[in-house]
Amino acid sequence: MGIGIGLLGLGTVGGGVAEIIQEASGRHPLVQALSLKRVAVRDPSRPRSVAVPAGVLTTSPEQVVDDPGVEIVVELIGGLEPARTLILRAIAAGKSVVTANKAVIARHGEEIAAAAAEAGVYVLIEAAVGGGIPIIEPLKQSLGGNRIRRVSGIINGTTNYILTRMAGEGAGYAEVLAQAQELGYAEADPAADVDGHDAADKIAILAGLAFGGPVDRLAIPTEGISRLDGRDVGYARRLGYAVKLLATAQALEEAEDDPQGARPLDIQVHPTLVPLDHPLAGVNGVNNAILVEGDPIGQVMFYGPGAGAGPTASAVVADILNIAGIRQVQSEGRSLDPLLAAGSWRRCVLADPSRSRHRNYVRLKTRDEPGVIGTIGRCFGDRGVSIQSIVQLEAQGAAAEIVVITHEVSEARFQEAMAAIRSHGAIDAVAACLRTL
Ligand code: HSE
Repeated sequence: MGIGIGLLGLGTVGGGVAEIIQEASGRHPLVQALSLKRVAVRDPSRPRSVAVPAGVLTTSPEQVVDDPGVEIVVELIGGLEPARTLILRAIAAGKSVVTANKAVIARHGEEIAAAAAEAGVYVLIEAAVGGGIPIIEPLKQSLGGNRIRRVSGIINGTTNYILTRMAGEGAGYAEVLAQAQELGYAEADPAADVDGHDAADKIAILAGLAFGGPVDRLAIPTEGISRLDGRDVGYARRLGYAVKLLATAQALEEAEDDPQGARPLDIQVHPTLVPLDHPLAGVNGVNNAILVEGDPIGQVMFYGPGAGAGPTASAVVADILNIAGIRQVQSEGRSLDPLLAAGSWRRCVLADPSRSRHRNYVRLKTRDEPGVIGTIGRCFGDRGVSIQSIVQLEAQGAAAEIVVITHEVSEARFQEAMAAIRSHGAIDAVAACLRTL
């Protein structure tokens, strides 16, 4: 039985969602309550990495939405139509919807939210912004006690990948874009990414949540990176800045003479020089990060993979589980939402610390005489501990300091080697012993 899930689309993200639902072991038990009922695809004969049960595939998205066994419709088609119509159809049928579609939410979010409120269903959109990064739920719930002042971020992975490579290698925009397309990072038609429209969709959604009202997506001043000259990326770096495609939304003071009392927001997407010590400057490659500034929290940053099958599927399933948890309370008579209650669902024990594996940093005070480094090497090597680097940094008189960084090794082996080192006559003291990531 279970909670019937209908997928519209079985591409990279849809395949990732189907895989999580069908391989529930090791995940929250609520995943086991989900059941993949119907999946709409354009071409059922296309080979796929994920196997779905016979009879589940259809070429008709309407069949998925209308199937009485489907309780939650997951829209992963993208684009404006037919996505908008299908979402509204699902809502009208009393079904909650999960979507990763930032374009449709940024442009038709108000209409969709009104229809959902009328029908008493949820439309959840965690996957629409920031791929796998939880940012929608924090803005709606975890940061609910704050007055948000500003939301800014790197919310397009493709452009961030291109900018990172331009900065790192001094490469030109067109050259890096061509390589990004070859590697499958950028779409064949990269316009939505490189011209900033994808980031504008996403900041419109974030601003709507952060400041409590929908914004006019099409009025957002938007500039992408397609006219960016690599020379400016290079000059910026020499002056102490990284160039990032930043999407920002900031609340301005309300105008005293505004009869509507509407909140004025400054929302923009622009290539921006970010000081190298700013938290957003170190966000590289296809990663995304969103910095939220509010009162009283101050600054909080959300960072992680902004695109890709696994991360985006993780966000989609989070939304499905939220709806499934609420449904268990509403229809199955449970007194608590299983996610919110966070009850334990399996036994966990602390493992013996000697099984822990990590790299190590050791600073030794030794005699400065022939063979000491060889002795240290043997103490480690004889016990199967591999040394990554060893340096003698200072020697004062007959004493020396030797610093060792090991490769990853079990704590048990490392301690055996350290016992041998401590007992050796040439070693005066273990002055420091730290873990290394
Ligand atoms: N095309 C988007 C990006 C991923 O490059 O970040 C999906 O939102």
